[in-house]
Amino acid sequence: MFDVYSVHDVSIVTGRGSWVFDAHGTKYLDMYGGHAVISIGHGNPDYVEAVTEQLSQLGFYSNSVVISQQAELAATLGRVSGLDSAGARNGGCMAEAGSGKAPAGGSEAGSEGGMAADGGREWQLFLCNSGAEANENALKLASFHTGRRRVISVGGAFHGRTSLAVAATDNPNIVAPINESNNVIFTPFNDVAALEQAFLQARGEVAAVIVEAIQGVAGIMVEGGEFLRAVRRLCDEHGAVYIADEIQCGCGRTGRYFATDWADIQADIYTMAKGIGNGFPMGALAIAPHIAPRKGMLGTTFGGNQLACVAATAVARVIERNGLMQNALTIGEYMMTELRKVQGINDVRGRGLIIGCELEPGHEGVARRLLFDEKVFVGTAVGGRVIRLLPALNVTRDEAEMAVEAIRRVLNA
Ligand SMILES: Cc1ncc(COP(=O)(O)O)c(C=O)c1O
Repeated sequence: MFDVYSVHDVSIVTGRGSWVFDAHGTKYLDMYGGHAVISIGHGNPDYVEAVTEQLSQLGFYSNSVVISQQAELAATLGRVSGLDSAGARNGGCMAEAGSGKAPAGGSEAGSEGGMAADGGREWQLFLCNSGAEANENALKLASFHTGRRRVISVGGAFHGRTSLAVAATDNPNIVAPINESNNVIFTPFNDVAALEQAFLQARGEVAAVIVEAIQGVAGIMVEGGEFLRAVRRLCDEHGAVYIADEIQCGCGRTGRYFATDWADIQADIYTMAKGIGNGFPMGALAIAPHIAPRKGMLGTTFGGNQLACVAATAVARVIERNGLMQNALTIGEYMMTELRKVQGINDVRGRGLIIGCELEPGHEGVARRLLFDEKVFVGTAVGGRVIRLLPALNVTRDEAEMAVEAIRRVLNA
């Protein structure tokens, strides 16, 4: 294998709920969800049944034919995310939030169609295969839509490794010379004045602002609502597209479908991946009604295939039926409260089940000890100084308590 990953010497062969098992039958508590990917738990029976049933019918046929599973996914996602009633949801406060536009989807509010898989006046869905691809398409779409080439991104951002996505990612180590671009302006985290300056510097050339409401890779850094509302206002004033990268913080993880929802505003494009398919590779763009498609503008071979669509539909239905957004909020609040009492943790940040624990200096090896001594998977950020907790949204209170106790033991050993 091309040796680019730092790998733990563990091989996971099965999983159920928030538990995974290695080849020797050793049980691990998964508080990382395979990097925020496992949203409804490992091996969810409804999900397994839906994917298995689809596979037995048809594994793949391309976007050159009608794929009814796309319409079903669009309707389900529209309902679960609230975008199908976006006008009703935000109609009263769009102006307050600074949007100069007619409430997105307002005319369709209350319709049963959900998001439209095929354009029209509703929110629209474009399906692809990964997070980077979702951002790549979102940036490209913003450029097509505005006819402009510049992008504002935020310091610390991670948007993926494809060409435009990595150019908008604030980590020179992963930007190859071929990806370097002076089209991207980085503005400091949570700094409204600097954001205003960036717009002025770009002199009417800003196609998009791309922003994570909660930066994951940067160590779970929560953007203030004031900053996100400033992004909305400035995008409206300057005719730019607001791209909310919800790849890590979205899909219900914060207790609302989009983390951006907490700022009571609406983006123009939401990008999704990770939790949307519970492990089935998929990326998606929810695109506001005012952004018009044109044939051939975007495209993909695999994106939106039958298997991916049934997987993502099953995920959204389980989230809805089992109240998993509420569970994420409740368990997340419990965990953050308890983690704040643990000695050795300087700061606990996040919302719902995207939690960062900034460790006191000297505790950098904690993730490894949690894995090997306590059999608990967690993620890290900022060179191991931050532990990242991104469990499945159906993690239980008992499992959360076990994780907190394991962290306490390791930090106080
Ligand atoms: C916020 C964010 N955007 C984009 C990506 C890229 O997603 P992918 O690895 O699926 O390309 C990631 C992956 O970690 C992410 O966290």
